[in-house]
Amino acid sequence: MPQSRAAIILAAGLGTRMRSELPKCLHPVAGRPMVEWTIALARDCGAQHIVTVYGKKSPQVDVAGKNAGTLTALQDPPLGTGHAVRAAEEAMAGFDGFAIVLYGDTPLIRADTVERVFAALEDGASVAVLGFEPEEPGAYGRLIEDENGALLKIVEAKDATPGELEVRLVNSGVLAARSDLLFDLLSKVTNNNANKEYYLTDVVGLAVDRGLKAVAVRGSADEVLGVNSRADLALAGAAFQARRRVEAMAEGATLVDPDTVYFAADTQLGRDVLIEPHVFFGPGVVVEDNAVVRAFSHLEGCTLRAGAEVGPYARLRPGADIGTNARVGNFVEVKKSRLGAGAKVSHLSYIGDADIGAKANIGAGTITCNYDGFGKHKTIVGDGAFIGSNSSLVAPVTIGAGAFTGSGGVITEDVPDDALALGRAKQVNKDGWAARFRAAMQKRKTEH
Ligand code: UD1
Ligand code: CA
Repeated sequence: MPQSRAAIILAAGLGTRMRSELPKCLHPVAGRPMVEWTIALARDCGAQHIVTVYGKKSPQVDVAGKNAGTLTALQDPPLGTGHAVRAAEEAMAGFDGFAIVLYGDTPLIRADTVERVFAALEDGASVAVLGFEPEEPGAYGRLIEDENGALLKIVEAKDATPGELEVRLVNSGVLAARSDLLFDLLSKVTNNNANKEYYLTDVVGLAVDRGLKAVAVRGSADEVLGVNSRADLALAGAAFQARRRVEAMAEGATLVDPDTVYFAADTQLGRDVLIEPHVFFGPGVVVEDNAVVRAFSHLEGCTLRAGAEVGPYARLRPGADIGTNARVGNFVEVKKSRLGAGAKVSHLSYIGDADIGAKANIGAGTITCNYDGFGKHKTIVGDGAFIGSNSSLVAPVTIGAGAFTGSGGVITEDVPDDALALGRAKQVNKDGWAARFRAAMQKRKTEH
């Protein structure tokens, strides 16, 4: 019987180096707040019981944790990582199994890496810690192993001897043990150290003193990067992008210039998708098979159905649903609108709060006038309708299936199926007017 799993997510630190009103753990990486990355990781690793620890100055983290379906626990005041885990003790009551401590400021750890930490416990270790070897061990806690590779203790950089500082293997912060053992060991931790903090890391030495076995599992530096500053936040974002681009290609998308494409945490790509250079995906984008995103397009909260093609220079905002084989061309903005199969909006348009029928053709420069300063209104264009260039569709308005609107029209009334609507001033030609005008002007110039 595998042990059940719980996660305690530490997110009560002040994050002062971010210099931000927003709690550190809510700063987003690839469009998703860091603490939500950690919660998603905990779930991916099979943790059913999750507690998010927040601080008095970060009530938004309490809300984020609850919204993501976790229990939350207040740590007040924050007296160190060990103290933070103890703050979760009440919320962990009744849980029996393996508990893993994760940080809300370390978003990129992979599920299979955490799986190896749990595997170390399954294999008989009492405490397992995720370590890594960064280029610069800097301020990280050092993992001190014996010659047989058993973990003896973790020493914080500030408390380390010069010899210990030489150690390259450092603590990522991820630590797992049986829940009852973890809290038992934590009850013995003191704050007798350089920071006067209760260190979670001290549980390793305490376990070893009891004759229990501790081990370090090795991860790679790019996944355990902890974010303390905005520069770190950018590094984490870059590390995610590098990883996601490789994954996207492995899953069957063609990226013409991968380094210029930016994904969100939840971007979904089908097979044989083509993405040209300089494309930005905000959260909530689904790109189905064979769809094409041309260069310099910005997409968020939208769906491209199979074979749809958008851009170059397309802007798709939340609620844009681009139908099978539909086409959105250059300098077109689409918001909260459905385009039916094979519909075309090829040039210079704003389509908002609209429902565009299958195979409808929306002429260049068409604007849905969806907002009257107070409310948003809907535009409906029937299947196969043809909207002339430079039309203003003043919502609420319905253009029937197969109807035409003449170019330059301001369409304020519903148009029946198969009708032609003309919403513009009638043209007047004045024969010879231009020649007479030129002659008169020329005469006036020579008289002066
Ligand atoms: C910690 C580890 C260090 C490790 C490093 C990896 C300890 C004592 N040190 O140091 O060995 O190399 O992480 O990044 O554990 N937090 C709370 N309450 C607190 C203090 C911190 O919730 O009272 C949370 C923070 O929000 C953050 C995480 O714990 O998510 C880490 O805290 P931080 O102060 O950044 O720890 P480090 O000093 O970096
Ligand atoms: Ca840190």
